[in-house]
Amino acid sequence: MRQYTPETITEAVIEQMATTPDPRMKAIMEAAVRHLHAFAREVELTPAEWIKGIEFMTKVGQMCTPARQEFILLSDTLGLSALVNIMHDKTKMEEATGASLLGPFFRENTPRFESGAQIAKATDGREVVLFGRVTNAQGAPLANAQVTVWQTAADGRYDIQNSLEEIDCRGIFCTDDKGNYLVRTVRPLGYFIPLDGPVGQMVMAQKRHGMRPAHIHFLISAPGYRELVTALYLAGDEHLEDDVVFGASGDLVAYVKENDPASPIKGLPSIHFDFSLSRETEADRLGGRVGGDPGAITKGNGEASTPYGAPPPEMAAAEQKKKGGILGGLFRGR
Ligand code: BEZ
Ligand code: FE
Repeated sequence: MRQYTPETITEAVIEQMATTPDPRMKAIMEAAVRHLHAFAREVELTPAEWIKGIEFMTKVGQMCTPARQEFILLSDTLGLSALVNIMHDKTKMEEATGASLLGPFFRENTPRFESGAQIAKATDGREVVLFGRVTNAQGAPLANAQVTVWQTAADGRYDIQNSLEEIDCRGIFCTDDKGNYLVRTVRPLGYFIPLDGPVGQMVMAQKRHGMRPAHIHFLISAPGYRELVTALYLAGDEHLEDDVVFGASGDLVAYVKENDPASPIKGLPSIHFDFSLSRETEADRLGGRVGGDPGAITKGNGEASTPYGAPPPEMAAAEQKKKGGILGGLFRGR
């Protein structure tokens, strides 16, 4: 009989998982086990600490609803979403606008607007114009590109934080034949990420400020180009350098100008930002996004009808066969 030690158990787990047919799943799970075991050895994890960790992850899962994705928030606050984004961004085939976090407040259900329409229901004297061009990496305009925008309302909250039904401060626009987009919105505010759940408890226990700098999200797509998930960060915000989710970066800082002669709408402050898209590769079509509409993610979760279901019949039958029938099973191990 095998006797595991802290040093030998890792290889035993990897050996047992070696039957995994999908090579990518096999590689990811092997690395996950190696790193998880190394982590437990490094911190000399105690049973009480691991149960605390399990309780924490249970609460994170229980907090998830069609309107809230606490796991994305956890990934964001641990810098994992930013890391995956940065690595993905490095694989694009051409130099183009950098990516930023999708975050937990994106939703598929977003209204379409005519160019130049106002997306905020209440402007509270904070109107601002967003304009610029969407081009390919060589600077040629991309006509009819889809530009999805979402941000906090003037009160610093996303619509989805109030209710699933409310839709405000988000919209889908199309570029014109010269690649121009034009949006009217309100100046966004920096905000606290949701701190009323387990991720918030973690952030507060670490004495972090919990703030994101003011920003506007963009998701831009055009056939044949890699989808761009990004955001513009407002110059001057005090949290540009210490964003709690590590999304802000220097190349995405945008400046509000009071009277930009280039702005198509006069008499309002404006932000001018041109976006460029990289051509799409085969792999891009499978790459996915770091994040998603919480409703779409939660939809996949079937509720278990009984606490513990039976194993799949084909697995039970295979095990029975190995044991040589019912009697073989009864006498095994005696
Ligand atoms: C956001 O920008 O919407 C966001 C990103 C990560 C965590 C919380 C919010
Ligand atoms: Fe945001």
